[in-house]
Amino acid sequence: MRMVKALVQACLRLLWILTLAECKIPDAHVTCLFSEDCVLPCNFKPSGNEIIRWYLQEGLLLSQTQQGGDQPDQPPQDHRTRTYLLQDQLSRGNASLHLSHCGIKDRGRYRCLVNSTLGQQESFVIMKVEASIKMVTMEKSTNREIQCLSKDIFPAPRVQWSTLPPKVNLRPITHMRSNTEGLYSVQSTLRMFENTLTYICTVNSTYGSQSWRSSMQERALIGEAGQELSIPCIDRQNLQNFSLTWTFSRTNEPTVILSYNSRTRRISNLWEGRAGLKPDQVLMGDGSLLLHNPESQEHTGTYTCTFTGFQRRHMVQTQVNIRSRSQLPVTEKMPKTTDQIERTGESHFHMLMIVVVVAVVVAAVITALLLYRKLRANQRQAGGTTVEDTEMEPMETIKTANDSPMDNCQLTEDHSNSHN
Ligand SMILES: *[C@@H]1O[C@H](CO)[C@@H](O)[C@H](O)[C@H]1NC(C)=O
Ligand SMILES: *[C@@H]1O[C@H](CO)[C@@H](O)[C@H](O)[C@H]1NC(C)=O
Ligand SMILES: *[C@@H]1O[C@H](CO)[C@@H](O)[C@H](O)[C@H]1NC(C)=O
Ligand SMILES: *[C@@H]1O[C@H](CO)[C@@H](O)[C@H](O)[C@H]1NC(C)=O
Repeated sequence: MRMVKALVQACLRLLWILTLAECKIPDAHVTCLFSEDCVLPCNFKPSGNEIIRWYLQEGLLLSQTQQGGDQPDQPPQDHRTRTYLLQDQLSRGNASLHLSHCGIKDRGRYRCLVNSTLGQQESFVIMKVEASIKMVTMEKSTNREIQCLSKDIFPAPRVQWSTLPPKVNLRPITHMRSNTEGLYSVQSTLRMFENTLTYICTVNSTYGSQSWRSSMQERALIGEAGQELSIPCIDRQNLQNFSLTWTFSRTNEPTVILSYNSRTRRISNLWEGRAGLKPDQVLMGDGSLLLHNPESQEHTGTYTCTFTGFQRRHMVQTQVNIRSRSQLPVTEKMPKTTDQIERTGESHFHMLMIVVVVAVVVAAVITALLLYRKLRANQRQAGGTTVEDTEMEPMETIKTANDSPMDNCQLTEDHSNSHN
């Protein structure tokens, strides 16, 4: 009798464990944005007299709907002011916890416990916090180094450098620092190689939700006073929503030349008459600046073009030197003229070569055509000539170039006869 009772109890316990396991709700995952409000879900079967409690990390009570006599706990001050449940949602079985102004310390596993006459229900929410990347900037420091900077990110982002054309062994040095709120700032430094390379810095968020890219290229350009100069700046990556800004600096702080927005398609030009864009090209990613009538002193300096798009930024810095023609040293002028003579001589030679090649090709084509026509005529007259005959024929024809067509016919007929 006792044995049976024990067996039945064991069976009941097993059944109870099984039902518990079945009722177990998998943990919900929520990623909240830093400093914004967040909702942690919790749903239950409503009965009307439930007590709802939210806990952080199994222990700390955050919120409860009723003050139980046996539970004198009070949520800590910080959480009491930052958490709440919506009363009108409770009657619908929704006990989602609202947490305002999320911080890094709020991350963790939350427990929602609902006690009612129906029993006890619990569910868990794993909450992550992400502080998204808002901006990635690039700076050039004095000793031929380029820096990629970003700040207030959580979790620590991934930083990667590349160049165009690609180079291996870039060896950047990356520092991450976290502030009192737990947010990271990143500073990655790369030694520059040559001027013509495009340096690309990519900053990715840990959860993969964002990928920011910032790139920079340095160039040098020489122009002549009074002659229109095009300063190239092309970015084919930012074709959707972008803005373009050109700035100029000599020794002072950069000043804006003009800016363009692809959405409004408007150019705001502060150098009206002195500089401009090619309006039909800019929407296709060619933001090259045209300098009309530049003057040597006034327009020599650094021209910076910046394309800014969604999580993208591309910068081209061009050191422009405008030479005044009257100021050119004589020694610099002289070699130029001899150089030009050499170059014109060279081009004459090239022209001659081209004429000779064309003449040879034309002669060959005409010869081939004549031969072909003769051959066809022979074929038509000979009727049943074999392949071998036609292959032989051109040689004969050349030999007997002065012969009359009749003689040729004789010849082919002789050939076919000899085969028979
Ligand atoms: C529960 O209520 C919250 C607001 O407190 C709402 O955001 C959420 O969508 C609701 N969930 C369901 C399943 O209705
Ligand atoms: C929930 O209710 C059960 C009985 O159903 C009780 O044993 C338990 O202590 C209650 N828990 C809390 C936190 O009130
Ligand atoms: C960053 O994300 C981009 C796009 O998702 C990917 O192509 C790139 O490889 C990622 N870089 C790193 C370092 O994770
Ligand atoms: C461009 O920006 C506008 C307004 O910010 C936005 O509505 C639109 O979806 C964006 N388009 C693309 C392709 O990103």
